[in-house]
Amino acid sequence: MRIAFIGGTGFYEAKFLEDPREIPVKTPYGEVKTLLGKHKGKEIVFITRHGKGHAVPPHLVNYRANIASLKTLGVKGILASAAVGSLNMDMEPGHLVILDQFLDFTKGRQGTFFQGEKMPVVHTDMSYPYCDFLRETLFQVGKSLGLKVHPSGTYVCTEGPRFESSAEIKMFRTLGAHVVGMTGVPEVVLAREAGICYTSVALVTNYAAGISPTLLTHEEVVEMMKINSQNFLKLLLKTVESLPEEWECSCEKRPEAELITGG
Ligand code: HPA
Repeated sequence: MRIAFIGGTGFYEAKFLEDPREIPVKTPYGEVKTLLGKHKGKEIVFITRHGKGHAVPPHLVNYRANIASLKTLGVKGILASAAVGSLNMDMEPGHLVILDQFLDFTKGRQGTFFQGEKMPVVHTDMSYPYCDFLRETLFQVGKSLGLKVHPSGTYVCTEGPRFESSAEIKMFRTLGAHVVGMTGVPEVVLAREAGICYTSVALVTNYAAGISPTLLTHEEVVEMMKINSQNFLKLLLKTVESLPEEWECSCEKRPEAELITGG
């Protein structure tokens, strides 16, 4: 059983992996540099969403290639990391949120594997986008480690790379969003299309625009990720340690998912 970590902002290296091997994976959407290694006997694949040193902005991340590469490597579950701004005072900077819903406010992204042409037209159910089994495991492990972890939260995904206006944040709050980021969609959607269990652990790095008393900078986001990186990694690794080889969940496995592989 293989688990993948998708490292977001501030999570670019995988020094924790034993016997790491770089494996470039060719997909119909481009090649992805993956790192395959072990942790306490379990196989982990690591990819960075933004490339080394945050070279790729959120709206240009090759989400399809990333998920297709993990599908090719036979990954069963994905633990993704996300830096987020908070829209409510209960979710404070430094807290972790195990996402359970999203609102999609992205614009021009390639958001599906099923484009017609050589692929069938498929309308994938998205009622519960994140894997409940992985979410519950992360939450229990987080609690046992004494971390400030929220069991659920609605993530609104904006197009970026700019931060939001105060009016946008006010609107997102009214719509029920708890946290805001720029990369969660279409990653979660593509994972579901590919039949891979997916969870996202969001680390609150700041209060969102208009809630924060100061103007937002990318540097403060990276700094907050750095401060919390050890706890964050501990949560991911302990979760991998406690995962069984197989689990039952309601992540839909459709036959079309098997069409999604490397080229
Ligand atoms: N907005 C969007 N993305 C983010 C934020 C934010 O406030 N903080 C970290 N990622």
